[in-house]
Amino acid sequence: MPSQGFLSLSTARKVFAALGGLYVAAVVLLTIPYFQTHTMFLHAVKIPLFANFDMPEHFGLAPNKTINLKVETADKETLGAWFVLSDSFYHSLPTIPSQPADLIPTALKTHPTILFFHGNAATRALSARIQHYTAFSSRLSANILAIDYRGFGDSTGAPTQPGVARDARAAWNWLIKNGAPADQILIVGHSLGTAVSALLAAELSDEDISPKGVVLLSPFSSISKLLETYSILGVVPLMKPLATIPWVARFVLRRVIHTFETDTLVPRIKGPVLIAHAENDWDIPYSHSEALFDAFLDPHLPPTPELPANAASLSQDEWSALMAQLAQRKEMREKLVTSVELRNFGTVHEFMEGGRKVVYVQSLAGGHDYLGVQEGVQDVIGRTFGLFGR
Ligand SMILES: *[C@@H]1O[C@H](CO)[C@@H](O)[C@H](O)[C@H]1NC(C)=O
Repeated sequence: MPSQGFLSLSTARKVFAALGGLYVAAVVLLTIPYFQTHTMFLHAVKIPLFANFDMPEHFGLAPNKTINLKVETADKETLGAWFVLSDSFYHSLPTIPSQPADLIPTALKTHPTILFFHGNAATRALSARIQHYTAFSSRLSANILAIDYRGFGDSTGAPTQPGVARDARAAWNWLIKNGAPADQILIVGHSLGTAVSALLAAELSDEDISPKGVVLLSPFSSISKLLETYSILGVVPLMKPLATIPWVARFVLRRVIHTFETDTLVPRIKGPVLIAHAENDWDIPYSHSEALFDAFLDPHLPPTPELPANAASLSQDEWSALMAQLAQRKEMREKLVTSVELRNFGTVHEFMEGGRKVVYVQSLAGGHDYLGVQEGVQDVIGRTFGLFGR
């Protein structure tokens, strides 16, 4: 009698063919703008479901500490947003405020404010995001303005790269209009929100407006570079199978509409910058943050020597010159960058450039979504931007 395997060969073949088919279908869909927009922003994923944004208390925030409001954009979209009062301000009130919205201008004048740009998918009421508001308003004594981009949450419209950049500017303008001094606004982005933060920071720098600084939590250097390193659910490397057929990979990359090239924005961003990334981030590898930190550092280093395509053709002397150049770059880098290892937490690298500091925190823990709620990360933010000792 022929023995029957656990999974017959023909079934296994069918399963593999089906998985391969799904993969090809997914890649083809990504080249179609409608699907690409939905996969990248995931704005249709409205988690938590049926959220009542008028009741921030239902998501864990203190009574009347958070004000639900609308922000109008230049192109007439209406964004849902939350303004969270700093705990040190909220607790200084004699009672729970009965008209908290009226307190916004005072809160903006007396406390620093974090303009928070969340990542893709879900809304401003997502539990992981609430934890950020709680921690920022207590440990960092900051107010928070958190918006849902167009197409997200209860906001109107649909997201695009220029659209979310306009949303960011509308949120910034709202804070200024309500009395926030520009230098008391710290722009903080997470994941996709880091690209939005960088766009806003570059635009403000172009206009000689100086925010307190910019914080990029779990950033990526650009969407095309992210596609190269991205793994679906942290398991299936999206572009790896395509890399074997370079023209298909190029075809897909050329069809990226929302390119979010933070790396090319770096030279335009003027004020202090803090980049943070967890080593255990399985969505976006920390190499993206290293690349961004290097982009800030690069103008101060001798140029990277170019390796010829055929390295074997180099003469002994040419090799030595190349090695010397690399060593010089490394030495210069070590002179500029101070690195401090904090045991069990991670490493903080920083350098001064003119009057501004550029910091890169590489933490051991936090994953992709909980990096900003690591107390160690918050403390570096607090110290870098002078949020303590108030
Ligand atoms: C909270 O604010 C609302 C108005 O926005 C007010 O009607 C309500 O009484 C306040 N709650 C408390 C506990 O004061």
